[in-house]
Order: sequence, then C-alpha cells, then structure tokens
Amino acid sequence: AIHPVILCGGSGTRLWPRSRASRPKPFLPLLGQRSLFEETLARCTGARFAPPIVVAGERHVAPVEEQAPPGTRLVVEPAARNTAPAIALAAGLLPDDAIVLVCPSDHHIADVDAFGAAVEAAAKLAARGHLVAFGIAPDRPETGYGYIERGAPMEGGFAIARFVEKPDATRAREFLAAGRFDWNGGIFAFRADVLREELAAFRPDMAQAVAEAVAGGSWSGGRFRPAAPPFARIEGESIDYAVMENTRRAALVPAAMGWSDIGNWAALRDARAASEAGGDGAGSDGAGNIVRGKAELVDCRNVMVDSDGPRVSCIGLEDVVVVVDGDEVLVIRASAAQDVGKLGGAREQ
Ligand code: GDD
Ligand code: MG
Repeated sequence: AIHPVILCGGSGTRLWPRSRASRPKPFLPLLGQRSLFEETLARCTGARFAPPIVVAGERHVAPVEEQAPPGTRLVVEPAARNTAPAIALAAGLLPDDAIVLVCPSDHHIADVDAFGAAVEAAAKLAARGHLVAFGIAPDRPETGYGYIERGAPMEGGFAIARFVEKPDATRAREFLAAGRFDWNGGIFAFRADVLREELAAFRPDMAQAVAEAVAGGSWSGGRFRPAAPPFARIEGESIDYAVMENTRRAALVPAAMGWSDIGNWAALRDARAASEAGGDGAGSDGAGNIVRGKAELVDCRNVMVDSDGPRVSCIGLEDVVVVVDGDEVLVIRASAAQDVGKLGGAREQ
C-alpha cells in the first residue's frame, strides 16, 4: 500500500482576509463544497492507499479533527520547523519499505485520474529506491517554486539532472526558456528508509534530532506527540533544500493534472474559472468575471468578487479582485495578488 502523509502548516496569508490564523487556507472550501484538505484526503483514499498520516501544528489540530475521517492518525509537531522535519517525523513512524506519498494539504488538482496515474508511476520508481518529485509544466517564470531539470528518461519518468528551489527571477526566466525544466509540484514519493538515509547523509543533525523526537514520543487516541526538546532544537528547513537539491537518487514523474497551489487570489480566480465546467457554483458571465456571493458587475472583465455578506457593485473594472469577509474588505489589482501578505491586516490577524 501507499502511505499518504498530508502536511498542514503555513498560514496562507496571501488569501487573507478569507484565510485567517483561526481558519487557515487548507480548511476553507475555496473551490466547490470541500476544503483543499478534504480534497487532498479524498484523492488519497482507495484500495491502493493505507490510512493517511496528517502532520500538523498545534493550531491545526482542531480543524484537522473536524474534517478528517475518524481514525486518521495525526502527528502534532511541537514547533514549526518546515517540511523536512515534518516529513521525517512521519517517515520515522513507518516501516523501512513503506512507500510514502507526501501531499501538501493546500493544493487543488482538477484531474484526479491523472493524479492517480502519476502516483502509480511514482510508487514504482519509489519502490526501486528513488525520491520521486511530481513535475508540472511551467507557464511563467514563477520564483516561488522549485525547478527540476529533466535528465535521462527512465521507466515511468525521468532522472533528475538538477533540482533548484526558488530561483531568482533571472534564473527562473532562463529555466522557462530552456524548455527542459518542470516546476516541482510539492508532492513526493519515496521509501521511508530511503528518505531516512538521504536525510542522514545531508542533514545528519536533523536526522538525529527527528529520530530522538520519534523515539521519545508517544501515541494517545490517534495522536502522536513527538518529544519536544529534540524537535525544538532542529533548524527549520524545507525538504526541497535539505534533500531534493542534494540527492542523487531523485526521479521525476510528469503530471499534467490541472495542478494549482492556489498561492494567491489571482490563482484562485484562475482555478475557479477553469473549474466552471465542473459546476462548482462560481458564476461566470462570458467576460471572465467570477462571482461568489451577491454582486452586480457592469462593464467589468476578469473581475472576481467573493463576498460572504454585503452586495458588491462594480462598474468598469478589469483584472480586479474584491473580497469581503465579515468586517474586512480587500480590493486589489489581480497582478498584485502576490503582495497581499504585506498588508497590515494580513500580518496582524
Ligand atoms: N506539518 C507541517 N509543518 N507542514 C508544513 C510546514 C511545517 O512546518 N511548513 C510547510 N508545511 C506545509 C504547507 O502547509 C504546504 O502544504 C506544504 O507543506 C509546502 O509548504 P509551503 O511553505 O507551501 O512551500 P512552498 O510553496 O514555499 O514550496 C514548496 O511547494 C512548491 C509548490 O507549491 C516547494 O516544494 C516548492 O519546490 C514547490 O514548487
Ligand atoms: Mg506552498
């Protein structure tokens, strides 16, 4: 079986004011009826999957237990130390030969069948000792992602010639122009022992501290609490920098699956527009406008309104996002969506 490990961390401040510290991005029904976390769990359910392990911080425990099916195992991190330690904790609870599938809890994948096919291919490569990343065809020089250079073809995918996490804008443009780079989708498959070996090779202190945190931890009612002191002394780092940039055992599975990490309001607008055919309830009017809640749009193009209460009326706007959430209102040009985290409201919530 494949063991899904679902990561819940981060705060999703770029989707403020809908996403707040008290109800972060993974737990919101941003597309359709289900939250991104519920979508993630649903994708990883079925005959080939073992029950999932969710790795989350203390403040995510309540929403996780509200939305996950009963019996879901939950690893509660004593402190936020980024994805490498979080993933290593889960791997530390699984047998050596377990195939682990790491899934972020805050992504949308439109084509679940394509995801399933990619998982199938990735599991085969993982069983042979590879650390497998899922490659997404890039369409812009995004600097917030990892870039993967394809190497020699291998069964079900490619070797990874180079993995570069969050390049600067110049390199991102180079990679895009070169044509042989994919984005890293943030989903990984590997055998638990292979992850342990590679972490021990490249981040021996982190590997040691995680091993101590697992050995000193305890289960209670489906929750695993690692020992706090060894975990707290870890220097936080993502799996991308700690392992993927360094390992020589990496492989890539291309995955054309309608992936989006819904990184900001503009990405959410695009994902909603794309999913209209799937009937998720978001309205569209032929001018690219997307409406949730009450709104009147006159002479508007590519405007998204998302209001949980008041009616929003707009005239003559283009490429603007308006979000109303309780007593907060956000109005932005879509091209500035990446900067929402800089707003005082988003930082102070
Ligand atoms: N449990 C736990 N603990 N989860 C965490 C932690 C943590 O300390 N930190 C982050 N996460 C979760 C986030 O909630 C998200 O689901 C996932 O791990 C990835 O973390 P992000 O912080 O969102 O990473 P990123 O978006 O900057 O970059 C990663 O994802 C990109 C694709 O979306 C990298 O893997 C990039 O290479 C990749 O392109
Ligand atoms: Mg992310």
